[in-house]
Amino acid sequence: MSFRTTTAIDYVEDVSPGSGALPPRAWYASSDAKSLPLNGSWHFRLSPTADAEDDGFAEPGYDAGSWAEVTVPGHWVLQGHGSPIYTNRLFPFPVDPPRVPTENPTGDHLRVFDLPSDWPAEGEAVIRFDGVESCARVWLNGTDLGEFKGSRLPHEFAVGHLLKPRGNVLAVRVHQWSAGSYLEDQDQWWLPGIFRDVTLLHRPSHSVLDFFVHASYDHVTGAGTLRVDSDVAGRITVPALGIDVPTGESVTVPVEPWTAETPKLYDGVLATAGERVPLRIGFRTVVLEDGLLKVNGKPVLFKGVNRHEWHPEKGRALDLETMREDIALMKRHNVNAVRTSHYPPHPAFLDLCDEYGLWVIDECDLETHGFEDQNWRDNPVDDDRWTPALLDRAARMVERDKNHPSVVIWSLGNEAGTGRGLTAMAEWIRGRDSSRLVHYEGDGTCRDTDMYSRMYASHGEVERIGQRLDGGTHKRRQLPFILCEYAHAMGNGPGGLADYQRLFESYERLQGGFVWEWIDHGIAHAELGYAYGGDFGEELHDGNFVCDGLVFPDRRPSPGLAEFKKVIEPVRIEGDSADGTVRITNRHDFADLSALAFEWSYQVDGETVEAGALPVPALAPGESADVKLPEQLAGTRGGETQWTVRAVLAADTAWAPKGHPMAWGQLPVAPRRAPSVAASAGPVPGERHIALGPAAFDPRTGALTSIGGVTVEGLRLDVFRAPTDNDNGMSWQDDVCFGALWREFGLHRMRHRLDSVELGDDALTVRTRVAPASREAGLATVYRWTSDGTRLKLTVSVTPEGDWNVPLPRLGIRFGLAGSADRVRWFGGGPGEAYPDTRTAAMLGRWESTVDELQTPYVRPQENGARADVRWAEIGGLRIEGDPEFWFSARRWTNEQLDAAAHRTDLTPGDTVWVNLDHGQHGIGSQSCGPGPLPHYLLRAEPAEFSFLFSETP
Ligand code: GAL
Repeated sequence: MSFRTTTAIDYVEDVSPGSGALPPRAWYASSDAKSLPLNGSWHFRLSPTADAEDDGFAEPGYDAGSWAEVTVPGHWVLQGHGSPIYTNRLFPFPVDPPRVPTENPTGDHLRVFDLPSDWPAEGEAVIRFDGVESCARVWLNGTDLGEFKGSRLPHEFAVGHLLKPRGNVLAVRVHQWSAGSYLEDQDQWWLPGIFRDVTLLHRPSHSVLDFFVHASYDHVTGAGTLRVDSDVAGRITVPALGIDVPTGESVTVPVEPWTAETPKLYDGVLATAGERVPLRIGFRTVVLEDGLLKVNGKPVLFKGVNRHEWHPEKGRALDLETMREDIALMKRHNVNAVRTSHYPPHPAFLDLCDEYGLWVIDECDLETHGFEDQNWRDNPVDDDRWTPALLDRAARMVERDKNHPSVVIWSLGNEAGTGRGLTAMAEWIRGRDSSRLVHYEGDGTCRDTDMYSRMYASHGEVERIGQRLDGGTHKRRQLPFILCEYAHAMGNGPGGLADYQRLFESYERLQGGFVWEWIDHGIAHAELGYAYGGDFGEELHDGNFVCDGLVFPDRRPSPGLAEFKKVIEPVRIEGDSADGTVRITNRHDFADLSALAFEWSYQVDGETVEAGALPVPALAPGESADVKLPEQLAGTRGGETQWTVRAVLAADTAWAPKGHPMAWGQLPVAPRRAPSVAASAGPVPGERHIALGPAAFDPRTGALTSIGGVTVEGLRLDVFRAPTDNDNGMSWQDDVCFGALWREFGLHRMRHRLDSVELGDDALTVRTRVAPASREAGLATVYRWTSDGTRLKLTVSVTPEGDWNVPLPRLGIRFGLAGSADRVRWFGGGPGEAYPDTRTAAMLGRWESTVDELQTPYVRPQENGARADVRWAEIGGLRIEGDPEFWFSARRWTNEQLDAAAHRTDLTPGDTVWVNLDHGQHGIGSQSCGPGPLPHYLLRAEPAEFSFLFSETP
């Protein structure tokens, strides 16, 4: 018996990847070899240190009856044992590699299993761990199998000689911290545990060991060439292609290629004497040619997202349905690429990428970002002692995932500085697989990479890179460019997506990017809704920086995803309705338009009066056509009119039903006529109020108190918004962040001085000055009220006085309505939220909602929910028309309460619905980890005049 005492814990702090595991190989599900999932309930015991109790727990016969239970796959800190910790790049322990703290939560896991009765007596067996964080030591039936690190990578152990028909004892000791933690400093929760599947695999004699599918496509001849190299010789059959060849032999036949847009997979079989393994073969060729990344002869434009594995209850222990949901959501939102930030995902995710069609950058489980704070001193990627661990990680990724057509790029890791270890990884990868390109962002010289990659570069810099004016090493200048991260989707935003996309489409060197990131990593929490950094009492944490996704923790799409979908839509629909045509452009890289059906509709004042199908030719990628719109409607019918043309799925797909919208465009026909009110009624002073048409005002303050039967509270100028994460920015930003500027200026504590209440013949004029304490700058603000007897018009004139060196968060009015106000109707942009640089997805039309539904549930509350270009809105018995159009929002709390809240559960509805009607909003930008709004989206303090017409709804 080779049971080691558990006090022998040197391996935890050893830089080596481990010992005892089998060499890495392809991950596959056999057609006929047996397997036994060992997921489910395991006995569990938590110890505070790595040298946990040495009571022979791994020995057969040990009584674990007093232990707790945890679910595998899972993280013990999400199952009531200890707490999660969130840090972005700071190591939550002293930096002294490879040493880790003595306080090292260590979870002993125990599982007793019987072999199924039909488990074959002959052959071998392996136990596979698909993911354990961060270091594990394994015993079967008391025999020490070895130990390993590399949390998001598979490790297998040969166990055939140890198995018994009944009562097998599998013991796994998992340490939260290990030398491996220094290589796993990704920006995410630290979540120890056996978080991916554990499986016992039967290995019949002469079964498949490892194999490599080489399936290339020649875009000139239309032929695919297949060769499957296998450690154990066998035959390859692909019935649909008439292929039946020995392993190792090449065969060339006409094929349909695989692309993310046309994910054609051919089913095949690799058969050895002992096993049959199903193959899903996609033919495609990835090259770097003429300074461009090309697939099947064509440059590709990545419309990508960075995906961490996340589930609000299960952390990184994702089930298949959640993975499928991610992919379906991505496909439904026009996303065509995924960077598996920052580790290889569960292998099933890549099967789905092959099947549904997504380009994948498969990233190695490597990040050493925390060394940046010490100028990268002791960085493991530049220290030869660690190179075996780096190579082990590279090999485990490449060997596991090499047979996926969706994987077109290998990424060495993320934010690991520079060093020889990275070069060694790149060289190893190229030697093993020359059919894909290599990515790494952290080295501006591009020494080891096939593309120049950056994160969060500004629009201006991206444009210079597109123009090839950015300089850099000779090698870098020959390379295509991608933004492996951009558009930080933290809270409200990201802004500026459309502006990036215009650049990507203008310069061939720019091959697109990957939004940071896919999902908010909020943890479901009974009191807080969703928890973020600091909510578990961490002594060091990075707050809600972990909630920066395009979907909320529950995977509901955020407005950012709706915006991204529109910005990257695969068809451009535009044109000038004057000539009665719409210009349709196919913006796919590979697919024609045959998968889409087109529909037109015609709106008068936002209401659809007619609709029909629009025949559009199946244009080839890049092609455009001017398509005639129905003639009889080409004129106007009074009112504001427009065409709306949509491209929808022509048939059901695996990820969305027929009719699912993919792209749209609107062509204005007759413009809106500004609403007007004749100032025919004058203000009538009374004892208790001034009457003007349907309205009453306080004679002392000039404040509006009611319009007809609707009580109005606190109407006044409003210039503040609860700063968004992107307004607040981050401390490391060089550029000043507006959220801080606004507070410093005092925009959140503006005071309103009343100068005069003037009753004229046809108007009530209230003059005020709005300014913060301690500043000479202010806004001279005049409210001019007129009426035609039934409607009430307010014209607000704002004149900045003094030195306004800050932009305004918003400029408009706010007022309170009775809390019974609920239903909202409007004609304007919708259905979702929009701001000046996030408004591409706002479609002009008539929309309906409720006050509650207007709120966007950002995990950390902040400004949200504005609707753009509103012509009129109805709420709480009032109809409000704007001249010009305005931004509308309404909530059951004030902006100040919104600003003060840290979690959604801090917001409690009051008796008043607060309505904001804004003439202007400041842009959103991406400054929570990138550039702020572009200059033309800033709301500068300038003289402004805007009007609203109020009336009671019928
Ligand atoms: C990048 C990093 C990501 C994430 C992001 C900010 O620097 O690669 O992992 O931290 O910033 O959310």
